[in-house]
Amino acid sequence: MDIREFQNRESNVCRYGPVYGAVFSRADGASIWDENGTRYIDFLIGSGAMNYGHNHPKILAPSIDYLRDGNIQMSLDMYTTAKRSFLQTFNEYILEPRGMDYKIQFPGPTGTNANEAALALARKVTGRSSVFAFSNAFHGMSLGSLSVSGSASTSKLGGVARHDVVRVPYDSFPNESVNSLEYINALLSNEGSGVEKPAAIILETIQAEGGMFAASKDWLRGIRKICDDHNILLIVDDIQAGCGRTGDYFSFEEADIKPDIITLSKSLSGAGFPFSIVLISPDIDFWKPGEHSGTFRGSNLAFISSAAAAKLWKDSDFLASARNNRRKLQAFADEVCSVHKSIITDKRGRGLMVGLKCKDRDIAQKIHNSAFSGGLIIETSGADRDVLKLVPPINISDEEMEIGLNILNSSIEEHNYA
Ligand SMILES: Cc1ncc(COP(=O)(O)O)c(C=O)c1O
Repeated sequence: MDIREFQNRESNVCRYGPVYGAVFSRADGASIWDENGTRYIDFLIGSGAMNYGHNHPKILAPSIDYLRDGNIQMSLDMYTTAKRSFLQTFNEYILEPRGMDYKIQFPGPTGTNANEAALALARKVTGRSSVFAFSNAFHGMSLGSLSVSGSASTSKLGGVARHDVVRVPYDSFPNESVNSLEYINALLSNEGSGVEKPAAIILETIQAEGGMFAASKDWLRGIRKICDDHNILLIVDDIQAGCGRTGDYFSFEEADIKPDIITLSKSLSGAGFPFSIVLISPDIDFWKPGEHSGTFRGSNLAFISSAAAAKLWKDSDFLASARNNRRKLQAFADEVCSVHKSIITDKRGRGLMVGLKCKDRDIAQKIHNSAFSGGLIIETSGADRDVLKLVPPINISDEEMEIGLNILNSSIEEHNYA
């Protein structure tokens, strides 16, 4: 496969292209094909941006109609028919059934835009400047999001000091012996801590890029209580763990907590179109008109695809398929952890967001490479890139799930020399 055109012209910053060395051209569900017609099962799925699979017909059809029929494509943040359709549908299919009442802000189109807006709003509402953020967190590549990200590789980026952030340990970081709730509470309660009260605590319920660490329900409830006790806003970054990835639409539902601000992006549009929103508790919607702006705030095409994706959440076949797939992936992970203990040392994550912690980075890389040669795309995550990250489409077909898991199983077996 000739990849010289890419290597000669594209910046060295390109990450996934050189890793796979294939040129992809077509996709359907959990399958993608390269230009030579080789099929791969996609358990990377745009790093969680295609939760409903590639080219879902119920999402694509209204999007194609919308593009073809002379509708408005660009309108800044004017009122449009497409925006109304999204607001009504997202409310009817996602928010209302969960008893959730939030105002919706449309920031720039990517996840990091949503987090920047969330942080800015929290600072504005409280009049405080600092934010508590967690070890191993990842919130995006713009400066504010970088400043609250925890991993060493991202924290060095930007080349400027990161002010107004207090780094605190995530649930069970670095191990069970540290009680992060007690520690955070002490920072806020003890006059001698020297730490100012923050505007917000920002967290991911599962730290996808950070190594697939999942917070427990109790820990999430504990953080909510700390926020309530100290009058601090809770921002949940559900950009990767949301949109159904863990089983519920929002990843924090099983903990039964109500964040003050929620950010969503990635799979929100359901079709890979860049789109993000900030859900704001109505009592803190302190924005003045135009105060937080940007050219691409709410793409009309994404309003249409996103509304179609939201409707899947009342489709019984879709919900049954997601439940079934969760069970299968979790059972597979339990099985490989027990059979291949010597190289797979831990199961992480939740729902259809599974991490297999490998003995070391080298083993993880070898399994990753063998899987690709066998026709399965996965990636590694974590500060040491020693965790295999499995995020198949949540509605993946039985056939594709079986092929994918078989390839992964063979790749793990191949590198278990015990
Ligand atoms: C939890 C989380 N937040 C924010 C982001 C940043 O989103 P984007 O890359 O669209 O800016 C990511 C991206 O991987 C993410 O996983």
